[in-house]
Amino acid sequence: MNRTVFIFISMFFIFSISSHAAIYKGQKVFVKECVSCHSGGQAFIAKKNMKDWKKLMDKKGKALAGLHLKNKDAKDSWEYFESNNYEKKSKHLQQFLVEYAKDSGNVPACN
Ligand code: HEC
Repeated sequence: MNRTVFIFISMFFIFSISSHAAIYKGQKVFVKECVSCHSGGQAFIAKKNMKDWKKLMDKKGKALAGLHLKNKDAKDSWEYFESNNYEKKSKHLQQFLVEYAKDSGNVPACN
C-alpha cells in the first residue's frame, strides 16, 4: 500500500470515529434530558425532518429552548434549557437529532 492511500484511509477512520463520538454524546444528552417528557425515543425524533431539527438547534439551540420556556407544561425543563450545560452540548444534541431525523435515511438500530 502506498503512503498516500494509507494516510487517506487513516484519516477516514479518524473522521468516522469522531463523528460517531459526537452523536453518542448527543444521544446521552437526549436520554438524560428529554425522554422523561418525550418518550418514544427515535420515533419522537423521526417526527421531524433534518431541516426542522437543524433550525430548532441552531444558534446553540435557541429555538428549542424558547419553545419550552414559553410553555408552562414544560416547566420542569426550564432549569435545564436555561443552563450553560444545554448551550455547551447543543451541538452534539443537534448532530444526534439530525442523524435520526425522518429523512436522514438512517434506520434506527433495534436495541
Ligand atoms: C419537562 C418536560 C420536557 C422536557 C424535559 C423536554 N420537553 Fe420538549 N416539550 C415539552 C412540552 C410540554 C412541549 C409542548 C407540547 C408538545 O408539543 O408536545 C414540548 C415540545 C417539544 C418539541 C416541539 C414538538 C413539536 O411537535 O413541534 C420538541 C421538538 C421538543 N419538545 C424536543 C425536546 C428535546 C430535544 C428535549 C431535550 C433537550 C426536550 N424536548 C425536553 C416538554 C418537555
